[in-house]
Amino acid sequence: MDDNYITGYCVLGDCNKAWCHHCYPVKDCKEKHQICIKEGMCEDYNIKYNEYYKNHDTLYDLEDDNGDNENGDNDNKIIVTGCAGFIGSHLCEKLCQMGYNVIGIDNINDYYDVNVKQANLNHLKKYENFLFLKEDICDTQSIEKYKPISVIHLASMAGVRNSIENPEIYEKVNCGGFLNILQQCVKNNISKILYASSSSVYGLNEKVPFEETDLISKCNSPYAVSKYCMEMYAKTYNQLYNLKTIGFRFFTVYGPRGRPDMAPYKFLYNIKNGIPIDKYGDGSSSRDYTYVDDIVNGIISALKNDKINCEVYNLGNSSPVTLNTFIEICEKVCNKEAIINNKPNQLGDVPKTYACIDKAKRDLNYNPTTDLFTGLTNAFNSL
Ligand SMILES: NC(=O)c1ccc[n+]([C@@H]2O[C@H](COP(=O)([O-])OP(=O)(O)OC[C@H]3O[C@@H](n4cnc5c(N)ncnc54)[C@H](O)[C@@H]3O)[C@@H](O)[C@H]2O)c1
Repeated sequence: MDDNYITGYCVLGDCNKAWCHHCYPVKDCKEKHQICIKEGMCEDYNIKYNEYYKNHDTLYDLEDDNGDNENGDNDNKIIVTGCAGFIGSHLCEKLCQMGYNVIGIDNINDYYDVNVKQANLNHLKKYENFLFLKEDICDTQSIEKYKPISVIHLASMAGVRNSIENPEIYEKVNCGGFLNILQQCVKNNISKILYASSSSVYGLNEKVPFEETDLISKCNSPYAVSKYCMEMYAKTYNQLYNLKTIGFRFFTVYGPRGRPDMAPYKFLYNIKNGIPIDKYGDGSSSRDYTYVDDIVNGIISALKNDKINCEVYNLGNSSPVTLNTFIEICEKVCNKEAIINNKPNQLGDVPKTYACIDKAKRDLNYNPTTDLFTGLTNAFNSL
């Protein structure tokens, strides 16, 4: 049996096989295939899919229009957007291990190497209770189709520096895409949405540690503005429609299968391979690096908490280190000296991030346990 049957269709969207939900039976079938018997499905696909899955009781019956699984059990279905990304793939893996039926949405954009996202998806394929949909959050209708108990919305255009170059796409995807997801949640009576904001919203704030009650008025990039806009939308939809919303201000997340555009991955990879690293500024800027498993635990704790109505939480490590110290720790992990390219500070950078995590500790029992050396060693071992 072809590996692609695990998720029901190919993730590249170009296999052109008759059973592939993505490539062959398309929503707007321009070829007017006779076998495209209903939107997004074809006869051949359904027969083969059902043949394969009839002995797998944890999987969904995609034929069922209301999206229920074969047992009619709708109680543990979660939609995770951004599932092929760094945090999303770790979160999906943990949710699958916990027995949730996870429907992952991602458009596999090329902001960074798509092979990295493909590898993340390959990792998730081994879970029978994971289903991948290659879709865009700006127009997905899958919330209506699958009617999950909750949506965890992580898909976004990430990257502060790129947002300075290409601000429009951040507005479109982060604000517009989130709006579509919120609208779908309301229309389909979804009770709760969790979403990724960012520590970037604190921008140039000087007072540390950053607290959720601090005034947000010094965002320093279009990315930060788009994340704050998401928080405003979430609050508004809670007021208007009683949709429960929980936002997370993540602080520089790192770990195995890390994002290749971020310093932790780039530094470890470059030092290991004798490639110079770019050091921006004098090395006194600081970041509150947070290990991905700690982040995932925080998200899952919020998912399980039904008392929270509309809140935003810092998910950080609450122990920032300077760039100079960070480079030294990377060198220790790699057991090799870094070759450093000194560069001036970049537009959009902020001098420091530092999370106060008292609120998350109190409400979510959030307790980050991974120190930087251990976490970076795990990341290094996954390179
Ligand atoms: N990693 C961090 O340190 C960090 C810090 C603060 C906030 N965040 C936020 O956490 C979330 C996850 O971050 P990550 O580091 O895993 O980033 P990531 O880029 O690895 O993951 C985001 C995923 O969303 C997908 N995506 C983007 N636009 C999409 C669209 N229009 N439709 C469907 N999918 C789309 C991408 O293909 C990608 O796989 C993001 O919202 C990010 O802004 C991350």
